[in-house]
Amino acid sequence: MNVASIISSKNRKKLTVLTAYDYATAKILQEAGIDIILVGDSLGTVVMGYPHTIPVTVDEIIHHTKAVRRGAPDSFIVSDLPFGSYGSSVEESVRNAVRIAKLGGANAVKLEGGVEFADIVSSIVKIGLPVMGHIGLKPQSFNKDGYRVTGKTDTDINKLVDDALALESAGVFAVVIEVATEEAAKVITEKVKVPTIGIGAGGFTDGQVLVINDMLGMDKDINLKHNKRYANLHDTILQAVKLYIDEVNDGKFPSDANVFHKK
Ligand code: KIV
Repeated sequence: MNVASIISSKNRKKLTVLTAYDYATAKILQEAGIDIILVGDSLGTVVMGYPHTIPVTVDEIIHHTKAVRRGAPDSFIVSDLPFGSYGSSVEESVRNAVRIAKLGGANAVKLEGGVEFADIVSSIVKIGLPVMGHIGLKPQSFNKDGYRVTGKTDTDINKLVDDALALESAGVFAVVIEVATEEAAKVITEKVKVPTIGIGAGGFTDGQVLVINDMLGMDKDINLKHNKRYANLHDTILQAVKLYIDEVNDGKFPSDANVFHKK
């Protein structure tokens, strides 16, 4: 995958996107043939255990992107610009984006926002680094907007379309639409020429993205309407760890198969 093949996939094939934050998971995603790996700032919640993504830093994104790049050397990797790393000035935004690409090894960066960040998007794109947009529910803005389903009214849908078109004019190669009505996502997808990638935005977007921990069922307390659990790793891991504890206590592990002997 590259920017050209991602853009040309519109109306031809659905794009598959999953997050990854570490080497081992990235290796599996590449083996499975995922189109795009996203090193999302969702790592703040699912890896670090923060209540939201606000504390995530550029250095943390770089750290995790490095691991993902080692696991998926041939994959197209998009890494998030975390909260506060863009927006205050074009210079600082470009500098942070460049650090993530140079030090982390990302092929592209993603930022949350629309019309208000068009100048920043175009400045990053101008230096040769592709940018993915992100509209709808913007977790980094939760102090301002809270978490809510977007695109419920015509006014809201028109605002989302304006944001998507501004991002497209600024040069994004794709736009994530998070937690929006299916109707809104359909209109946006029809209006823009670049692919839309939905999460909680229904079935009409050009691709889908999920947070890997959610789709693998790692946390039994997380039940999101937009998510589908493709596995129940919480139970699988819990059972394995309990079995290990029992076997160590019962002297069943290690067995002779796990033991080294002198010649
Ligand atoms: O941080 C993230 O994982 C994301 C996805 C939810 C799109 O931005």
